[in-house]
Amino acid sequence: MGSPIKNVVVVGGSGDLGRAIVGGLVDAGFAVTVLTREGSTATFPADVATKADAVVSTITTVAVGAQQQLVDAALAAGVRRFIPSEFGLNTRFLGNDPIGTIMQAKIQAVNYLHEKSKQNPSFTWTAISTGLFFDWSLGCGLVGLDKATKTATIYDSGNEPYQASNLPHIGKAVAAVLRHPEVTTNRYLSIASFNPTQNQVLGLVEKLTGQEWTVHHLTTEEQQRIGAEKFAKGDHSAFFNLLKKRVYADGAGLAVRGPDNAIDLLGLEEDDLEGTLQAWLASDREQGELKGTIRDWLAE
Ligand SMILES: NC(=O)c1ccc[n+]([C@@H]2O[C@H](COP(=O)([O-])OP(=O)(O)OC[C@H]3O[C@@H](n4cnc5c(N)ncnc54)[C@H](OP(=O)(O)O)[C@@H]3O)[C@@H](O)[C@H]2O)c1
Repeated sequence: MGSPIKNVVVVGGSGDLGRAIVGGLVDAGFAVTVLTREGSTATFPADVATKADAVVSTITTVAVGAQQQLVDAALAAGVRRFIPSEFGLNTRFLGNDPIGTIMQAKIQAVNYLHEKSKQNPSFTWTAISTGLFFDWSLGCGLVGLDKATKTATIYDSGNEPYQASNLPHIGKAVAAVLRHPEVTTNRYLSIASFNPTQNQVLGLVEKLTGQEWTVHHLTTEEQQRIGAEKFAKGDHSAFFNLLKKRVYADGAGLAVRGPDNAIDLLGLEEDDLEGTLQAWLASDREQGELKGTIRDWLAE
C-alpha cells in the first residue's frame, strides 16, 4: 500500500452519515475535503482528487448509482482507496430477499469496484455494512420507540438480535479502515456498535424511564406484504417495510458477533447500548426531527 493514507475526500459529507464520518476522520488526524453537489460527480475536481489518497462516498441512497462516475474519476486521479456508500444491510448477503431489488445500485457499485480493482491493483476499495443506524433510527422512529407517548412497536417475537451502529461509531470505523489499509484491502466488512433485540431495548427504556411502555405487536410478514404492494406501485417507501422484515424477523440472523464483527479487526470497541438510549431519552430533539419524510413513510 505504500505511504499512509492522509488526504481523504468525502462525497456527500453534508448528510447525516457524512457529517459523522467527516468528524471521525478529522478526529483521527486525516486531512479531509468535502465534495458537494456543486462540484458534481461529472466534474469531480482533478486537483482535489490528485491530492486525495482515499474517497469516501456517503451520498444519499437514491443517488448511489452515480458512484460509477465517482469511481472512474477517482481511479483516473490515482486515488488508492474507495469506500462506497453502503453503510446499511450487507448487500453481499441479500439472497432472494425482495429488498435486494431496491438495493441493486449498491450491489452494482461494489461489483464495479471489484472489477476495477482487479484491473488496477493499486486502486482498492473497502465496503462497510453497519446494520441500522441506531442513534439516528431512534430519532426517526425506525427502532419502533416513541418517547413522547412511551409506546413501543415490536415486530414478531422481539427476540431476534440485529446489527446496529451509532453514527460516531461508523465515523471511527471509516477512519480505522483508512489507518489500516493493508488489512482492509478489497474487503466487505460488517461492523456493529451492538446487536440488541427489540425486547432488550424495550426493557432498557422501561428501566431508564421507570415506567411501563404501551406495546403494540406487529408481524414482519405483514410488513413484507405492505412493502411488496407499495413497491409494485412504484412507491419507494416500500424500502422501510421490507427493511423491518429483513432486520426484525425471527430467525433473520443479521447479528454480527465475534470475528463477523470487524470492530476487533479495526481496533474498536462496542458502544454502550444503555448509554445510547439514555442520551436519546434525555435529548430534547423531537421525534422525527432528523428526517421528516422518513418519519411519514414509517408511519404506515
Ligand atoms: N443503515 C441505516 O440505518 C441507514 C440510514 C440512513 C442512510 N443509510 C445509508 O447511508 C448512506 C448515506 O445516507 P444519508 O441518509 O446520510 O444521506 P443523506 O443525508 O440523504 O444525503 C447525503 C448527501 O448526499 C448528497 N446528495 C443528496 N441528493 C443527491 C443527489 N440526488 N445526487 C447526488 N448527491 C446527492 C448530499 O450532499 P451534498 O448536498 O453535499 O451534495 C447529501 O448531503 C446511504 O448509503 C444510505 O443508504 C443507512
